[in-house]
Amino acid sequence: MIRVAIDGPAGVGKSSTSKALAQHFGFAYLDTGAMYRACAWWCLHQGIDLDADELDERLITEAVGEFFTEGHADVTVDPEDPKVLADGQDISEEIRSAQVSSHVSKVSGIIPVRHILIAAQRAYIAREASADSFSQGRGIVAEGRDITTVVEPDAEVRVLLTAREEVRQSRRSGQAGQGVGADDVAKRDRADSKVTSFLTAADGVVTLDNSDLTFEQTLEQLIKLVDDAIEEQ
Ligand code: DC
Repeated sequence: MIRVAIDGPAGVGKSSTSKALAQHFGFAYLDTGAMYRACAWWCLHQGIDLDADELDERLITEAVGEFFTEGHADVTVDPEDPKVLADGQDISEEIRSAQVSSHVSKVSGIIPVRHILIAAQRAYIAREASADSFSQGRGIVAEGRDITTVVEPDAEVRVLLTAREEVRQSRRSGQAGQGVGADDVAKRDRADSKVTSFLTAADGVVTLDNSDLTFEQTLEQLIKLVDDAIEEQ
């Protein structure tokens, strides 16, 4: 079983390269950002006020705990079609809405919420070691902001995917069609970086700056890192 952990800020192509990497090796794919988004969606649907000056962190934590530990939430790990479900309803598209995007940092910034999600993420990752899992024990690519440092510091492959600020800015503008403005994404990165440090690589983490690389070249480098890890096993 190979665990691949990919961190990095918005605008570096984390999701698309992670998915393609997982497909290449027949691994599962875990989008941890989607899990945080689903929590924000769930809170908004429970009528919890995420615009309050003082967030009710206890209430939010309780709601997230209920969502993830009482079986309301489900995440599928097929990289060709990863889904997030709430009580069986596919919310994969709704969690990309501008409303969720603008509230997610408030939820992901609450430390007890992070503890619940970190435990859930580790459980999804551990499940892939089993022969009857999606990857049949081959492995998983997990991406997010704190994967290499907090969730999976022992992963066989740990990469910080990064790019120069101006390159990320222009790629973000390309994402504007998803209801997210470049400035909103930059604002979210700033808020997120107060909670998780995804802008500098931790010890043992490979930094891959893809400012001057195409998607295929980035993927090639990642494939090489995974091939090396497979060889080492
Ligand atoms: O990658 P994304 O934009 O879908 O992530 C949504 C939010 O979740 C983002 O604001 C940061 C947060 N997040 C986090 O705090 N830790 C993670 N491992 C993944 C995402």
